[in-house]
Amino acid sequence: MITGASSGIGKGLALQIAARGGRLGLIARREEVLQEIVAEIKAKNGTAIAVGADVCDAAAVQTAADRIRSELGPIDIMIANAGIGVTDHAANLDPNKVTEVMSINVLGAVNSAAAVLHEMVERGSGQLVAISSLAGYRGLAKSAAYCASKAALSSFFESLRIDLRRSGVTVTVIYPGFIKTPLTAGRHAKMPFLMELDDGVQKILTAIEKGKRSYAFPWQLATVVRAGLIMPASMYDWIAERNSFRE
Ligand SMILES: NC(=O)c1ccc[n+]([C@@H]2O[C@H](COP(=O)([O-])OP(=O)(O)OC[C@H]3O[C@@H](n4cnc5c(N)ncnc54)[C@H](OP(=O)(O)O)[C@@H]3O)[C@@H](O)[C@H]2O)c1
Repeated sequence: MITGASSGIGKGLALQIAARGGRLGLIARREEVLQEIVAEIKAKNGTAIAVGADVCDAAAVQTAADRIRSELGPIDIMIANAGIGVTDHAANLDPNKVTEVMSINVLGAVNSAAAVLHEMVERGSGQLVAISSLAGYRGLAKSAAYCASKAALSSFFESLRIDLRRSGVTVTVIYPGFIKTPLTAGRHAKMPFLMELDDGVQKILTAIEKGKRSYAFPWQLATVVRAGLIMPASMYDWIAERNSFRE
């Protein structure tokens, strides 16, 4: 089960997993776009179904997961990928916009996990995957809502991972850097180590297959971001102000 499968990373994961014989339940709001992806998968003898749902609607996500289970069988892997990005300077702080980002990026992933977790725990197997971001490690310029949402998402799934030890259910948190998708397409600010979609998707798939607990990439940007974690705030602010990834 993949959320946010109508575009970018989610679509890329769907196509690559289908090519390896995986049976897919695809979720996003634009069901007609999902249907085109399903047709593409079926044309190559793959198996996929499209379920239109807004991840903010817990009941709709539960219904979607139930349909996937009834048509394709137990859900082995749930990839919580649906997310939005937003540029927001502190001076223009809009609580409605922050609520939207938190609802989709955090609560949407919570709803997705809740829709599959009880059955996975009962079965004693399964894997939850959260697509977080390197932006979740520390605050970045003009990105308060996005950074906060990814920090919350990472912590949430990390906590689940600890609770689920010895349950048979594993949790993988992925922290990508910049990947070429519609989410990054409109941005003109420099995006260091920007990756092609296929390369990013391949790295995510390998981490999922290996059952990694946590995977941050590309390594160059992940190293810089990790170094930021141990910097004093004054030094961090000086560097972060001069390296805004949003115009
Ligand atoms: N691209 C990057 O550089 C990058 C880096 C780090 C992390 N990420 C994360 O990777 C994930 C995918 O991003 P992307 O770059 O592939 O973006 P994208 O191409 O814009 O795709 C976002 C996907 O999320 C879905 N979505 C958004 N709101 C939704 C909602 N309320 N309910 C259901 N689905 C919803 C969209 O489908 P509908 O509009 O059809 O609903 C779409 O399929 C996001 O969580 C993003 O934060 C991306």
